[in-house]
Order: sequence, then C-alpha cells, then structure tokens
Amino acid sequence: MNSQAPVITVDGPSGVGKGTLCQWLALRLGWHLLDSGALYRLTALAALRRNLALQDETHVALVAAALDIEFIPDPDNLVRIRLDGTEIGDALRSETTGNAASQVAALPAVRTALLERQRNFRQAPGLIADGRDMGTVVFPDADLKLFLTASAGKRADRRYKQLIEKGVDANLDILAKEIAERDERDAQRAVAPLKPAADAEVLDTTLLGIAGVRAWTRALISQRLKIRVIP
Ligand code: DC
Repeated sequence: MNSQAPVITVDGPSGVGKGTLCQWLALRLGWHLLDSGALYRLTALAALRRNLALQDETHVALVAAALDIEFIPDPDNLVRIRLDGTEIGDALRSETTGNAASQVAALPAVRTALLERQRNFRQAPGLIADGRDMGTVVFPDADLKLFLTASAGKRADRRYKQLIEKGVDANLDILAKEIAERDERDAQRAVAPLKPAADAEVLDTTLLGIAGVRAWTRALISQRLKIRVIP
C-alpha cells in the first residue's frame, strides 16, 4: 500500500480530451489537479519573454527551474494563472504556445527541472495528473494509469470546434498538420516520449463521446480504488 496520497494519471496526445476528463474527475473527487502541459507552456512563454531561443537548453532549463507562477482558483474558469506576477489569459492555450511548449519539452534538462515541481502536487486527499509522461516518469507508482488516444483527424476536428466556439479563427488543414507535427515530436523525442506505461489502461476515444469516456473511467476507479464517482 502506498503511504503517499493517491494519484490517477491521465496521459495521451494533444486534443484527446484529457483536460476535460481531468477537470471533471478533480471536481468529482475533490482532488488536486496537475496540468503538466501548462508548466511546459509557461516555461516556453517565460523563455520567449526573455528573448531566449527555444533550443537554448541550459538557459531554458534555468527559466523552468525558477518559474514564478501562481495558480489562482476561479469559480468561473477553474483556475487563473500568473506568470512573473502578471496574469496570462488566452495566450497560454494558443496553438503558438502549444508548439513552443512542445519544443522546450523535448529538452532533457527542462524536463528534469520540472520534475520535483510536478511531484509536489501530490497531496492529500489525492491528485489527478494530466500530461504525456505522468504514468511513465513522474508518477510511476500511480494508483491508476489511464491513456487516451484518438485519431489525429478526430483530434484536429475537436480542436477546430473548440476554437470556433471561442470565436478564434482557425483552419482545419493547418490544425491537422500542426497536430501531426506535435505528435511526431512528442512521440519521437529521446526523453519521456509519449507512450502508455506498461501497466496503463488504454482507451481509443475516436468513436466515443464524453459520457463514454467518463463511464469507462468511473468503472476503473470503482474497481481499482474502490471509490464510487458520481456520474
Ligand atoms: O497538454 P498540452 O497541449 O498543454 O502540452 C503542451 C506541450 O507540452 C505538448 O506538446 C507536449 C508537452 N508536454 C510534455 O512533454 N509532457 C507533459 N507531461 C505535458 C506536456
């Protein structure tokens, strides 16, 4: 039995619906939420603000280690984020930031610099950890490891709809190309590549709606953690 707070890891490629599932789970269970992608995005933003080249591993890692961030709970927005004392809005979630994040995430020293910060999120009563290497590297002893997949076309489609709903201009072909490039970089990098842990439960969500993904997750949590999650 693990003496630390329980962790459920949720890994998978971008646009697969991990964020939506993790926010719902954290609310339902009353557990903490680690959005590890946000840490890579914040590192990229902080590096760009300091005019660093995104390949400059030594300096970008120093920025990652010293990130000055604050997560502020917000009833409307779930969470607001301050970087170096100023609030960042939509820039965090933009495709440009996502692509920059994917570049800094390929640097081993940056991943090492963020490791402890991520592990510190593991606090009672429990943690939902959202990312690419939560089950393989950051929390190898997690209580339950989920891995979501979906075809690149389906993920581009979902992302397109999200952006249009938010009133952001988007082009489906460009999005599909960027998602494919990002997948390739995240899966091929030498350190912590995107792949399911050997003991992860894998679900292909290409043909599954949110309700189906939640039902699958609830069943696994009930089986493995003996916790009943309200639908
Ligand atoms: O999940 P996201 O789109 O916010 O992640 C942004 C980038 O950060 C993504 O391209 C891959 C990288 N990332 C990572 O390498 N490891 C994580 N645990 C989370 C994100």
